[in-house]
Amino acid sequence: MKTTNFLCGVLSCALYFISAVLAQDFASHGTYTEPNTGIVFYTSFETNGTVEGDGEFSEVSWGGFTFGIALPENALTVDSFEYIGLIIGSTPNGTGWSGVVQGDNVGAGMPNHLMLLAWPTGNGDEIATSFRYTSGYLAPVPYGGSASIYPIYSKVNATNWTLVYKCTNCLIFDDPTQASFNTSTSKGGFEQGWAQSDAPPYDKTDANSNFDQHNNGMGEFSIAVASATQSDYSKWATETATTTYTSTTSSGTPTATSISASAVPTGVTYDYVVIGGGAGGIPIADKLSEAGKSVLLIEKGVASSARWGGTLRPESGWLDGYNLTWFDVPGECNRIWNGGSDGVACTDTDQMAGCILGGGTAVNAGLWWKPNPADWDVNFPTGWKSSDMSAATQRVFSRLPGTDHPSMDGQLYLQSGFNTIRTGLANANWTSVTANDVPSQKNRTYAHTPYMYIHGERGVLWLHTS
Ligand SMILES: *[C@@H]1O[C@H](CO)[C@@H](O)[C@H](O)[C@H]1NC(C)=O
Ligand SMILES: *[C@@H]1O[C@H](CO)[C@@H](O)[C@H](O)[C@H]1NC(C)=O
Ligand SMILES: *[C@@H]1O[C@H](CO)[C@@H](O)[C@H](O)[C@H]1NC(C)=O
Ligand SMILES: *[C@@H]1O[C@H](CO)[C@@H](O)[C@H](O)[C@H]1NC(C)=O
Ligand SMILES: *[C@@H]1O[C@H](CO)[C@@H](O)[C@H](O)[C@H]1NC(C)=O
Ligand SMILES: *[C@@H]1O[C@H](CO)[C@@H](O)[C@H](O)[C@H]1NC(C)=O
Ligand SMILES: *[C@@H]1O[C@H](CO)[C@@H](O)[C@H](O)[C@H]1NC(C)=O
Ligand SMILES: *[C@@H]1O[C@H](CO)[C@@H](O)[C@H](O)[C@H]1NC(C)=O
Repeated sequence: MKTTNFLCGVLSCALYFISAVLAQDFASHGTYTEPNTGIVFYTSFETNGTVEGDGEFSEVSWGGFTFGIALPENALTVDSFEYIGLIIGSTPNGTGWSGVVQGDNVGAGMPNHLMLLAWPTGNGDEIATSFRYTSGYLAPVPYGGSASIYPIYSKVNATNWTLVYKCTNCLIFDDPTQASFNTSTSKGGFEQGWAQSDAPPYDKTDANSNFDQHNNGMGEFSIAVASATQSDYSKWATETATTTYTSTTSSGTPTATSISASAVPTGVTYDYVVIGGGAGGIPIADKLSEAGKSVLLIEKGVASSARWGGTLRPESGWLDGYNLTWFDVPGECNRIWNGGSDGVACTDTDQMAGCILGGGTAVNAGLWWKPNPADWDVNFPTGWKSSDMSAATQRVFSRLPGTDHPSMDGQLYLQSGFNTIRTGLANANWTSVTANDVPSQKNRTYAHTPYMYIHGERGVLWLHTS
């Protein structure tokens, strides 16, 4: 069970990395001469323990984090888009990644900024680096802009790792898919962000590897250009690497888990494209296709049902020969979170989500609620009110009525929890209802859960419009 993600799902914490709060500098600053290279850095650091001020969702940094920067002597008068950087990352469990956000003159939120991530590969003093960006609070993807990195020194020990590097075009944001901008050193200051994790990227040897959200500190700090300019900059900038290094190429896409899926067809035009086959996407796609429109419903990940090519079955073999996956079996839907299903729980979002048809929603939990008319009437535009939707809803529920007595013999089993809560609610004068008979009665009512089970299977197949 992904407890933290579940809580985030409940609490709607949309944060993946580095908050968009107003720029505020909570780090400590100093000057540090890196002993192996002699380069003098203006440093910004957080010490071991509580992150001061801006560690939201990641309020402790075990081992601390340090970023150092050296700029050309004339950076206050002529914008420099390169710098020499120092990252000292912490690996409290002997592994992890650290990263900086190359902010701009105003802020260093995660979206639409260049990020430099780095981590020990496990091979001696080798550090892998990766340029990334993201347009939202999402898993960062490889960056396609002109930034490049040249390693000068790296060292890994049991608690920290150190990387000294020259970063060219790193104060330019020019990923070809995004609006570009330059950060100006001649304005006297700019913002940087940082974040750190104690879990390694999924493949430490792959610069494009996916990785989990930071969990070991995050924050933002300001670079005072006047404190970072160095008269020896041009000498240091030509120093050669002293250690081995992993390629930093940022081409391609992050590695995906090796699961089979159909590619989106090319060369075909659709009337509608619906993104996400969950509790909202499936009925919308269904209504549109019933109206004769061509609809492409895009879902990420494997098929959940064996009828559509799903293959995730128990290794012990008890479903072999039944043309069913874990997810077709009532009561096994939580396999998305709980073993037996590598590559199905999404790893690139901090929400509780399944990368599978039906996502992490009611569809895969096997729940089957008739929508409350108020949901359509309050939230949806003209043409999509409950009166517009009732015929489509009826068609779907006539194909798949669902049941609140999901056992094969129609008996209710293991009712002690339900009965305990029912007693309390009944004493408080709540009304017992059959939920899908009275979808508008949601105030002080209680019901047995309706499930989308039919003929002993999760009934997602029955939603399919021919
Ligand atoms: C960081 O602080 C924790 C808790 O005080 C302590 O157990 C740990 O040894 C410290 N780590 C380092 C690297 O100083
Ligand atoms: C590196 O490790 C030391 C000792 O393990 C720790 O006290 C320190 O905070 C770390 N340094 C940085 C810059 O993270
Ligand atoms: C790593 O160490 C931290 C701090 O001791 C601990 O909270 C965390 O659970 C550890 N993570 C792993 C993956 O062991
Ligand atoms: C590990 O590296 C860090 C950063 O350079 C340093 O502060 C720390 O003393 C080193 N620890 C050991 C045990 O050498
Ligand atoms: C950023 O600076 C580079 C180098 O001077 C220049 O070629 C580019 O046009 C600038 N981009 C923007 C958006 O100002
Ligand atoms: C599983 O069901 C689908 C749809 O009914 C059918 O096309 C397929 O042949 C079945 N596969 C097996 C192994 O029985
Ligand atoms: C429930 O309804 C009864 C009868 O109207 C009333 O006497 C009782 O106070 C109500 N109980 C609560 C908890 O509202
Ligand atoms: C729910 O019912 C209670 C008791 O009848 C009432 O006071 C309350 O306003 C109702 N809430 C809504 C949202 O209708």
